Amino acid sequence: MHLNPRLVAPIMKHRIEVCKRIPGPKSKSMLARFRELNGGWGVPLPFVQTVEGDGCYFKDVDGNTLMDFASQIASNPLGYNHPDMKETVKQYTHTAPVKIAGQDFIAREHLDLLEELIKITPSHLNSAFLINSGAEAVENAIKICMRSKPGSTYGVSFEEAFHGRTLGALSLTNTKRVHKKGFWAFNTKRLPFDSTAPQELEDMLRREGGDDSCAFVIVEPVQGEGGYRPAPKKMLQGIRRACDAHNIPFICDEIQSGIGRTGEWWAFQHYGITPDAMTAGKGLQIGATIANRKLFPAESGAISSTWGGGALIDMALAVTTIKAIKKHKLLSHNKRMGNYMKKQLLELQFRHQRVSGARGLGLMLAFDLPTKEERDAFLLACLQKGLVLLGCGQRGVRLIPPYVVEKEQADEAMQVMRQSLAKQEKLGPEIKKYEKCGDHPI
Ligand SMILES: Cc1ncc(COP(=O)(O)O)c(C=O)c1O
Repeated sequence: MHLNPRLVAPIMKHRIEVCKRIPGPKSKSMLARFRELNGGWGVPLPFVQTVEGDGCYFKDVDGNTLMDFASQIASNPLGYNHPDMKETVKQYTHTAPVKIAGQDFIAREHLDLLEELIKITPSHLNSAFLINSGAEAVENAIKICMRSKPGSTYGVSFEEAFHGRTLGALSLTNTKRVHKKGFWAFNTKRLPFDSTAPQELEDMLRREGGDDSCAFVIVEPVQGEGGYRPAPKKMLQGIRRACDAHNIPFICDEIQSGIGRTGEWWAFQHYGITPDAMTAGKGLQIGATIANRKLFPAESGAISSTWGGGALIDMALAVTTIKAIKKHKLLSHNKRMGNYMKKQLLELQFRHQRVSGARGLGLMLAFDLPTKEERDAFLLACLQKGLVLLGCGQRGVRLIPPYVVEKEQADEAMQVMRQSLAKQEKLGPEIKKYEKCGDHPI
């Protein structure tokens, strides 16, 4: 199967082209100003991008053409300027207001998105609640579970889990200390992210006041920020069984792994299980809590928010994303391209001693380097050769290309990675100096 030729027809040069050393002068000065004015700071890679782009490629403000294998942290599934998205955008150029208070005032876009979402979830997950961000989708998933278990006192997440940074979601997040340091947390307990988890859960329930005390178990079927680790089958299936046996709502957080990234609409479909509630975000560009209607509180106003799904155009674009994935058969494309790229990663691992743990499902791929320092230097080296990649976990490198990726782009990315690794291997213990050569301004 080939993609619609319009998806790959270049409107700009379809190859990496680094004409100014990265970061270029414009990026440098904008980053410095941004750092002064912006309340938070977490920019991992030194460039400032433009909206000019096509498929996997975009231009930065210095005129470099870069290849994006980070997909805006998995939140740009169709790549830059996808023709279907542009068609939808055209319909909204004269629309005002662009944003409505979407939980209290309803528009057609809201209903369209609910209907499209419900079509791609298991049949018992027949209602959704739209919200501004992924973290808020998690907040609302745990809130509806708490409501359904009035006497409960705690919730359960996993080691290395990432569920967001709002206080409820943050209480369940266990990746980096920097996320949690100094912030209050509510009562949560942790399970190991391995096949001992179901037994650990049984023991925990016995120890901690029985079935009624536990409000929910939440898990990422493929851990995202924590290291792109697919859960062992035995673990997910065992947790599902234990939750059934003890009447505990089981939530799958599909914010990073959902909307087709792994080659199925939802990563839990690889495991032959279904959750009681789930979340979506990133790829949808809107947060969504999805569950059976009966799990949502019957009392009006029990959960709400002003925007409830963002701007009208956001909801229309989310519908377009789902329809484009169906129309262009991107689920099977993602599986096929994922297998192709995983083979390439295994080959990289075979040829380079420093590479280990090549892994992934569909287009959610990763490998490890020996240390965090080497990983960070590698990401910078790739960027300076025009390839945008992100880290994950302690020392992982993740590959999250847009769904329009083809073999040519995968090969081009792989060549950059091979060159960067070869350079690093030559430098050996000088790696720290090399990192400085990157002239990273942050
Ligand atoms: C699995 C998972 N859950 C929740 C979140 C939080 O989403 P957001 O950053 O949109 O609040 C993320 C973001 O990375 C995520 O990967």
